[in-house]
Amino acid sequence: MSQKKDDMSTEAVGLGRRRFLNTAALTGLTLGVAACNDKPETAPAASGTSAAAPAAHASSATHLKPGELDTYYGIWSGGHTGDMRILGLPSGREIHRIPCFVPDALVGWGLTNESKAVMGTKPDGSLRYTVADTHHTHASYKDGNYDGRYAWINDKINSRIARVRLDYFVCDKITELPNVQGFHGIFPDKADPVDPAINYTTRVFCGAEFAIPLPNNGGDINNPEKYRSMFTCVDAESMEVRWQVLIDGNCDLTATSYDGKLAATNQYNIENGVHYEDMMSSERDACLFFNIARIEEAVKAGKFTTVGTSKVPVVDGTRENNKDPKTALVAYVSVPKNPHGVNASPDAKYFICAGKLSPTATVIELSKVLDWFDGKLAELDKAIVAEVEIGLGPLHTAFDGRGNAYTTLFLDSQVVKWNVDAAIKFHAGDKSAKYVVDRLDVHYQPGHINASQSETRMADGKYLAVGCKFSKDRFLPVGPLHPENEQIIDISGDKMVLLADHPVRGEPHDFIIFKRDLLKPKQVYDINDFPLAIKDSKESGVTRNGKKVMVKITSQAPAFSLREFTVKKGDEVTLILTNLDKIEDLTHGFAIPKYNVNFIVNPLETKSVTFIADQPGVFWCYCTHFCHALHLEMRTRMIVEA
Ligand code: CUA
Ligand code: CA
Repeated sequence: MSQKKDDMSTEAVGLGRRRFLNTAALTGLTLGVAACNDKPETAPAASGTSAAAPAAHASSATHLKPGELDTYYGIWSGGHTGDMRILGLPSGREIHRIPCFVPDALVGWGLTNESKAVMGTKPDGSLRYTVADTHHTHASYKDGNYDGRYAWINDKINSRIARVRLDYFVCDKITELPNVQGFHGIFPDKADPVDPAINYTTRVFCGAEFAIPLPNNGGDINNPEKYRSMFTCVDAESMEVRWQVLIDGNCDLTATSYDGKLAATNQYNIENGVHYEDMMSSERDACLFFNIARIEEAVKAGKFTTVGTSKVPVVDGTRENNKDPKTALVAYVSVPKNPHGVNASPDAKYFICAGKLSPTATVIELSKVLDWFDGKLAELDKAIVAEVEIGLGPLHTAFDGRGNAYTTLFLDSQVVKWNVDAAIKFHAGDKSAKYVVDRLDVHYQPGHINASQSETRMADGKYLAVGCKFSKDRFLPVGPLHPENEQIIDISGDKMVLLADHPVRGEPHDFIIFKRDLLKPKQVYDINDFPLAIKDSKESGVTRNGKKVMVKITSQAPAFSLREFTVKKGDEVTLILTNLDKIEDLTHGFAIPKYNVNFIVNPLETKSVTFIADQPGVFWCYCTHFCHALHLEMRTRMIVEA
């Protein structure tokens, strides 16, 4: 391994927490710090030693010594838990979970006013949704590589897209897409189609699987031939929906070109079928290419409609109205039966659709699709430069940056490594071209796959992760449901080498892996980022406006600024808590017994909760996050007068 060492040493951030605890113990507190030892200090820098042992062999690469740091971040979709998971790779250790769509009891997500505002509430203030089904996660780009600003994740159940800030690893916006169901594929653009100065992500594309009546308000229920699906563009900054494209068939996965000109979605239901046998009736389905510049010109020119109460411009991308390449907004390239997965190669030349019900991968050359839009390619399907058999149940494809593709074979329980140029030669008639390079058994039924830096121009061909849907016999049995099995594979040599199994709670689906120096996490908040921040503990106190009571409180280990506070039964209490501790990881919690309140505040963070004080009595509010030798003593009394 030859990754350069980066500077994520703790010197950069200070050995803050340990030093704080020791200092606090020495200045006045007679208790030792032994009680803190169950919570390790920040891992020491791996300076001078290789963070991962030589990858050639192999298991040592995934078993880091205590204190050694991983060389890659992984961003994983959390599945039913509705969160985003952060892993370190190649160790595969899960470091963090970022709640997005579903409440989370650790951070108080879905409980604090701030998180509820992100998640969305009903008129009565309760959460609009508490379930989710996240599948795909991708991050923002600049110059063809991740720029560490944002990651996005989808919720298929309620057609929502969440954005995560990658400086603080928190979800800051959620948008519900109108006019669609089964929002599945998601991919940010990598450049602007028109302005070369915008060489970074400004749009996120969203594919919807299920066709529905438009508008879906009770009409056309029994006319499935009128159901339609849409492809949606969301603004990466404002997170508002910019436009939608009405299509024939459906969307599944999504991908984007490096030049920003095209977005793609594979389509398994060209038939517009309502039942699965209808969805499988055609021998070929499609991969759709959206001409972003033309779509946005059409929107600008007012050539759009709207649906129901939604104000989002909808342009016409149906087959009938997109036959003329010179004006088409959408190109429908045909691919074999019920494809799954569309992935852009890191050389920016090809999109690869995996066949699912066909044992093939289809390689579509981007420049030829652009030629078709320019009227220079008479037959759109001539953009297919290879369609080769690779194995049973091909689903998703990753790349090593050396011209090889790695595709999961769901039915064969294998990963197949194949060479894209050789496949193109074979397809062109050179039957001596051996495009399959290697096969590796995985355990079992693999779905998503991704390699380190695979979806960037900097694919580095070091590690491959495979999300296996079934682990069967790989882990101790735990009742009827087994965990899924995420496997790490070394792809630095000619042969793939399986390095490790990791059980995961269902169902993560998709993930990306990239070098750790692409992120620059911040570990202490800026107090000015919070409008409600209580900047001085002297501002603490209770203020009343009729039945509305505001409680301002700050935390500084090992005490809250108020030793008690009093409200009256029936009051609507809004409690604002600012953590005035300034040291990384010096987080406090705030729980109120019988009031269903618990949340944490990170250094210099402010959060608030609102509740009705409906039970009189004394309620010991206490710190729920280990912070100090006097953590257990860190309490305040909420007194609710009858
Ligand atoms: Cu503050 Cu524990
Ligand atoms: Ca089909």
